[in-house]
Amino acid sequence: MSKKKPQFDTLGPRTRLIAAGREFTEHGVVNPGVYHASTITFDDLATYRDMTVPYRYGRRGTPTSRAVEQAVALLEGAHDARLCPSGMAAISTALMCFLKTGDHMLMVDTVYLPARKFAGGILAKMGIETTFFDPATSPADLAGMMRPNTRMVYAESPGSQTYEVMDVPALAEVAHKHGALMCIDNTWSAGHYFKAFEHGCDVSIQAATKYLVGHSDAMLGAIATSEALWSDFRAAYEELGQCAGPDDLYLCLRGIRTLDVRLERHMKNALVVAEWLSGHDDVEEVFYPALPSSPGHALWKRDFTGASGLLSMWLAPKGEKALAAMIDGLELFGLGASWGGYESLVLPFAPAKYRSATPWTRPGVGVRLHIGLEDTEDLIADLKAGLERFTKAG
Ligand SMILES: Cc1ncc(COP(=O)(O)O)c(C=O)c1O
Repeated sequence: MSKKKPQFDTLGPRTRLIAAGREFTEHGVVNPGVYHASTITFDDLATYRDMTVPYRYGRRGTPTSRAVEQAVALLEGAHDARLCPSGMAAISTALMCFLKTGDHMLMVDTVYLPARKFAGGILAKMGIETTFFDPATSPADLAGMMRPNTRMVYAESPGSQTYEVMDVPALAEVAHKHGALMCIDNTWSAGHYFKAFEHGCDVSIQAATKYLVGHSDAMLGAIATSEALWSDFRAAYEELGQCAGPDDLYLCLRGIRTLDVRLERHMKNALVVAEWLSGHDDVEEVFYPALPSSPGHALWKRDFTGASGLLSMWLAPKGEKALAAMIDGLELFGLGASWGGYESLVLPFAPAKYRSATPWTRPGVGVRLHIGLEDTEDLIADLKAGLERFTKAG
């Protein structure tokens, strides 16, 4: 291991991203080794019995995983972190760790759709009840929704697809007053632009698949917790047998090193595209809290230090043929799930199909855009031609 152990507390956020996990490197090599490990052997029985040895079994950690965990914990400002094989695995693991039969959870209506399905599926089967609440719910109204058995308030801010910003500190205060935990899906900000623990959260989850990995070539999820929750969480994470593959962990750490510069360009590009879309006659609304005209802008400005490259536009109803004409002809925007890589992506969505706390009644169609690191002139030209096809075909 490197002898250098930085005093992270004194370092700025960008230096932390570079210095984190470096103590797990060896032989002067800049990056940690990629340990492909199941069995770890011990020199003698006394060492085997010593529960303080840092590595006991591949699933329970290697220098590769420790380096990533340290980097994620420092990024999030958490006590510590663990990784799972996907963002969805991180969500289900965190919920199973902190909830038990008979508990009630308040989950935001704008949550990532498979998280909603998990709540209505496996959690419901386990006897855990979920109530969905509007992202604009006031602290007083949230307090009115708390039950004696409400164990968790689950937020995602900004929310999936429509990017409503929540007043997380105020909602966290309500949760804590009623003895519940505040948990957030912090993927949009990558933990870099929203410091969940400074804003009252106890648990922060990320699909590391997105900006932490950053190159669309690995799937991972991260769970970071406060110190108070750590030992319970760690025990449950181990009971569930969670761990992540060494190559994916390595790719995540490599992505974290350049997170700041990538996000800065994603934000710069996304803002240019969002502003252009806002002035387009065929775009009814752009959902992106960094836009000064966005309803969530003031809260975003108060609590976030930047914006990612993920936004949506709302288009008038013109039918599937017009939507296909627009999307199929795009040359630079790939049609596909996920986001957070270096490339631009497009995906249609229809919140009316799943929002329940506040039914979505607005006619039309949503189109999610991930704005990558390309030249914005090229992206705008591609979108301009796409919107022309949409209007013509409608
Ligand atoms: C906000 C959010 N959370 C969690 C996930 C799940 O991550 P993964 O695809 O790695 O399971 C996604 C994936 O799109 C997401 O957008």
